[in-house]
Amino acid sequence: MEVAQRTGERITFDTCKEEWKELETLYADFESKHFEYRKTAESYFGQRNSCTSQIRRQQKKLKVLSGAVKKCEADETERAELISKINQRKEALNKVLNYLPKKNGFYLSLIVGQVNLTFDNEAEKYRYKDEYEKFKLYCTIMTLISSVLNFFILHNRISDAALSFFLLWYYCTLTVRESILIANGSRIKGWWVMHHYVAVFLSGIFVIWPEGQSYQEFRSRFMAFSIYQSFIQLLQYYYQTGCLYRLRALGLRPDMDITVEGFHSWMWRGLTFLLPFLFFGHFWQLYNAYYLTVLSLKYKFIDWQVPAIAFLFFVMFCGNFFTTLSVVTQKMKKRSSKSKQQ
Ligand code: COA
Repeated sequence: MEVAQRTGERITFDTCKEEWKELETLYADFESKHFEYRKTAESYFGQRNSCTSQIRRQQKKLKVLSGAVKKCEADETERAELISKINQRKEALNKVLNYLPKKNGFYLSLIVGQVNLTFDNEAEKYRYKDEYEKFKLYCTIMTLISSVLNFFILHNRISDAALSFFLLWYYCTLTVRESILIANGSRIKGWWVMHHYVAVFLSGIFVIWPEGQSYQEFRSRFMAFSIYQSFIQLLQYYYQTGCLYRLRALGLRPDMDITVEGFHSWMWRGLTFLLPFLFFGHFWQLYNAYYLTVLSLKYKFIDWQVPAIAFLFFVMFCGNFFTTLSVVTQKMKKRSSKSKQQ
């Protein structure tokens, strides 16, 4: 019938009746499939809730047990053995909990309430992280284009404010996406999320900064910094998605064609390439803080936005610089302890 309609053939009433009959059998078939699906879904939710409550019960019991073991009199080696077993069980339960619904944190519950945001399989978690990285990539490209236009061609407050509004929306969205990632077991350091809250404030203050002398003096510097930051974020995208792809290949594919050593050597090459650009960006943030402090003094603090943005740039520098340092030193320590073990 569909073919007849496409080719413009005349359709008789008998053909319509035949089509309806076919549809009726299709619907009956679908109804039984849908019934099966509803049954499976209900049993799935039931089993999920029962697993969650069983884990909670075991966690409570383990807590009481580990307190008791520490207090009671026993042979030290036996006690240590039992404590290590209890700790291992706690870790195993925590791992399983990553795939079961949990209460949303304060920020997420403020935005979406208490709906379940935990993905129950690794493939979904991967897909969400991949989408997060892609979202960052598209927004970075938009920021780059808009900053280049503002730096070279457009010199007006409206296009500047449009960029700041866009950044405000982007960073707010990132904080939500990152909270969902953390709820799903991502190891994102607290500072990187905090960094995006600080960026929300910075973009917000930039929008309401009145167009005076101080604004004009800093504007082109801000656009240049924004271009550089977008460039770094493109490099970061390449590095993070590279890690993501390789970790997925290591963890999920049965025919592992990427070895753990292969992953680590790729990661170190990526990091050593990225780090000089990152540190340069951090010191640019420090320079922005210094320049804005000088501007505040020059214009006798007429616009409160100037020292406020200076302070936020300084906070960003400290957080970014010291967190990156600690991430790199942690990775170096892990690497040297692994090579000693081998
Ligand atoms: N933003 C968001 N997530 C980040 C992140 C960042 N800046 N840095 C790391 N992560 C995530 C990783 O994707 C990983 O997530 P997962 O657990 O879901 O897989 C988790 O945090 C742990 O990553 P980790 O092993 O600690 O670091 P890494 O090797 O992925 O990245 C750096 C290390 C230093 C490259 C990265 O932290 C970075 O780019 N930092 C600099 C950011 C910066 O300073 N920006 C401003 C420039 S002016």
